[in-house]
Amino acid sequence: MPQIVYVQPNGSREAVPASPGATVMMTAVGHGIPGIVAECGGSAMCATCHVYVDPASIGFLPPISDVEDEMLASAAGERREHSRLGCQLTLAPGVDQLIVHIPERQV
Ligand code: FES
Repeated sequence: MPQIVYVQPNGSREAVPASPGATVMMTAVGHGIPGIVAECGGSAMCATCHVYVDPASIGFLPPISDVEDEMLASAAGERREHSRLGCQLTLAPGVDQLIVHIPERQV
């Protein structure tokens, strides 16, 4: 099964299985990954599911939408080149692994 690797700010990593169609946010919440708050439940309205996509994984993701781009502007953590909302990211078919880094803070 494909997996998502979550890297905490202190460098610790946890790999969890990702169900088809599940988002990075849903998978994190379902596995108790710290640092993904997801206050709005996945509606792209809170930016508390902010992640930094690892450069090794960025090519596997869809382009950022205008709504996601606007919401990332209000993220609590520093916005970086590969910032995305975890609730807007799913693994594309055929992708075995996605690596995301969790910001220092979400609120
Ligand atoms: Fe609120 Fe992703 S869970 S923006």
